[in-house]
Amino acid sequence: MSHYKVAVIGGDGIGPDVLAEALKVVRAAGVSFDATEYELGAARYIRTGEVLPDSVLDELRAHDAILLGAIGAPAESTEVPPGTLERGLLLKLRFDLDLYVNLRPFVGVPGAPAEDCDFLVVRENTEGTYAGEGGFLRKGTAHEVATQGSVNTRMGVERCIRYAFDLAMNRPAKHLTLVHKINVLTFSGDLWHRTFHEVAAEYPDVTTDYNHVDASCIYLVEQPTRYDVIVTDNLFGDIITDLAGAVAGGIGYAASANLNPARTGPSMFEPVHGAAFDIAGQNKANPAAAIRSAALMLDFLGERTAAEHVTDAVLSFINSHPNPTLSTTEIGDAIAERL
Ligand code: IPM
Ligand code: MN
Repeated sequence: MSHYKVAVIGGDGIGPDVLAEALKVVRAAGVSFDATEYELGAARYIRTGEVLPDSVLDELRAHDAILLGAIGAPAESTEVPPGTLERGLLLKLRFDLDLYVNLRPFVGVPGAPAEDCDFLVVRENTEGTYAGEGGFLRKGTAHEVATQGSVNTRMGVERCIRYAFDLAMNRPAKHLTLVHKINVLTFSGDLWHRTFHEVAAEYPDVTTDYNHVDASCIYLVEQPTRYDVIVTDNLFGDIITDLAGAVAGGIGYAASANLNPARTGPSMFEPVHGAAFDIAGQNKANPAAAIRSAALMLDFLGERTAAEHVTDAVLSFINSHPNPTLSTTEIGDAIAERL
């Protein structure tokens, strides 16, 4: 079996708490790896003014994968201006490592509004409104103008859509839904819609449909089982995956993989939830999302069997404890014991 170099960025709030359990479970799955911890996030920024030094970015590139807990400062913090860590750390990693797919699987938890759902969202992860195009004119005056553009390249849209078709083709239902807002975003929507149909012609076995993003919010609540794979742009993907997480059982279970499918560098795996400062360091956070994210890492590294075992262990734990009252470490232990 291979040996892996994993960079571990616990980050802020409950990030380190949940990652400790993820590492425990990966070890219990019998996968051999070295974990190198990197202190990045609000604490480092407040102490040193550094967000992501170039030397650290270079070191991260030399790993097989990155596990990330959570990044962010408390909402009331005045020491970290909004966007400092989001743009300077999380998005910088996604962009500089070309993690162009954000893959987010949703499997319903018993008793959840969408308990029978089982679908994947492929969120474009390097373009759209996240690209940072825009600026101010006459800032601070009564005639201030703020623009925030959406960047959509044929290459960026196509590679994301292709990834989604490849995924859909290998699932039993073989169905892919494009989510966008082509009736209003007539430029970017047109590019997405056209590219989607052009690529679809190469995948005759995959059935397709299209939902406006607002309608998809109704379907995610009222008919979530209609979805198999969804592909969408960066901002729509951000929003609908919080909704999907909420209806599938809570954001505490939602995992994500920031993938560089071309494998020109490491991919990064992180729970969808944030830092939850109110329960940080209290052994109260649910590590299920971090553990499932670690399973996505194992799968991407080619450790398919270990990945399946970890995912099955998490799902079997969730099925027997739909509303866990256990501590973070107890949940990690209970999942590790199943392996
Ligand atoms: C997510 C998060 C990030 C995003 C934030 C923290 C920048 O909400 O991963 O969904 O908007 O992508
Ligand atoms: Mn989000």
